[in-house]
Amino acid sequence: MLRRLHKDQPASFAFTPANLAWAEGQISKYPEGRQASAIIPLLFRAQEQEGWLTRPAIQYVADMLGLAHIRALEVATFYFMFQLQPVGTVAHIQICGTTSCMICGAEDLIAVCKELISAHPHTPSADGKFSWEEVECLGACANAPMAQIGKDYYEDLSPARLREMIAKFSAGDVPTPGSQIGRFSSEPASGLTALTQYESGRTQYNASVQLAVDIGDTVKRIDGTEVPLLTPWRQSLAPAANAETAPTAAAKGIAPEKAEALATGRPEVKVEAPAGVAVAAPGQNTATGDVAPAAEVAGSRPVALAAPREGGADKLQTIEGIGPALEKLCQELGIFHFDQIAAWGPAEIAWMDSNLRGFRGRVSRDKWVAQAKIIVTEGMEAFLVRAKTNDY
Ligand code: FES
Repeated sequence: MLRRLHKDQPASFAFTPANLAWAEGQISKYPEGRQASAIIPLLFRAQEQEGWLTRPAIQYVADMLGLAHIRALEVATFYFMFQLQPVGTVAHIQICGTTSCMICGAEDLIAVCKELISAHPHTPSADGKFSWEEVECLGACANAPMAQIGKDYYEDLSPARLREMIAKFSAGDVPTPGSQIGRFSSEPASGLTALTQYESGRTQYNASVQLAVDIGDTVKRIDGTEVPLLTPWRQSLAPAANAETAPTAAAKGIAPEKAEALATGRPEVKVEAPAGVAVAAPGQNTATGDVAPAAEVAGSRPVALAAPREGGADKLQTIEGIGPALEKLCQELGIFHFDQIAAWGPAEIAWMDSNLRGFRGRVSRDKWVAQAKIIVTEGMEAFLVRAKTNDY
């Protein structure tokens, strides 16, 4: 596969302050002299910031790591997770065309992409929302044919299902990743023939799909002005992480934040309902209207704000261990500022640790409170210096 830089390149690139702090934290994880090992996460973050990986971004990352530009270029052109040209603003669809997938119908999937997106790979659709390409084996051969869309795998695909999925993405929904014919993982399509005792212990999704649903950043999204969101593009992501619940919730007049909290089982944030909009009761299932018993919660819920204070929310991603998904989750819980986190005691930490669904235990593990206290008491500059050596 020929991979080369796009002919049209922006004049420059620079990480945003939050991404720069994050990148410096990543570099600090490696021993002296081995900082070049941070190249993959840094290139990927640059791609997340811009939507695709530009020449200035590759050079910028190389300079950060003290590498010759050609070394970073070698990495960027080798891995096809790096997009070297502009891609669809909603989703870039990577169809596996290797043996298992080809035998099971990959060519029919590519035909759908050609029809609905663009006749040629790496060419955004007329509305700019989608692009596609054929890639080599993605390691899900037992669930062929499959595609990687954004960050997740969609398996056991058919042309009809791919059409439906593109329509859903286009409408702002995110189909649930994983098998599209209901397989739990890669067991026989007709069901288990051995180890059948494990059938009863199954969760709704396998661990991989559950994580994808919890994190909710399968694809990047565009905001209401149709402008691709820049770093971190998920900050303004429409609130429905499990977007398949969103239309139902919207149809019922339920605020999206609340719908997501209810749909995902995350604790609900106290929010003011817009005038004339009904808000579901705590524990109410938005799909069925049923009221579930309140979950057992450890510790004490931290004091939450309905909205950021004047001046806007702090960049919580500055704290090592908080990424876009956790920052969004914190905001949903009414946590917008460093001083809120710095004020948590053991009870609040316990509550947060047990309620960050998909990220349980992260507050303690990554010492959020200690980091926030340094930011609040010593200032950001001092924190960034200490963060380089995890001195907190
Ligand atoms: S052949 Fe398609 S995932 Fe391996």
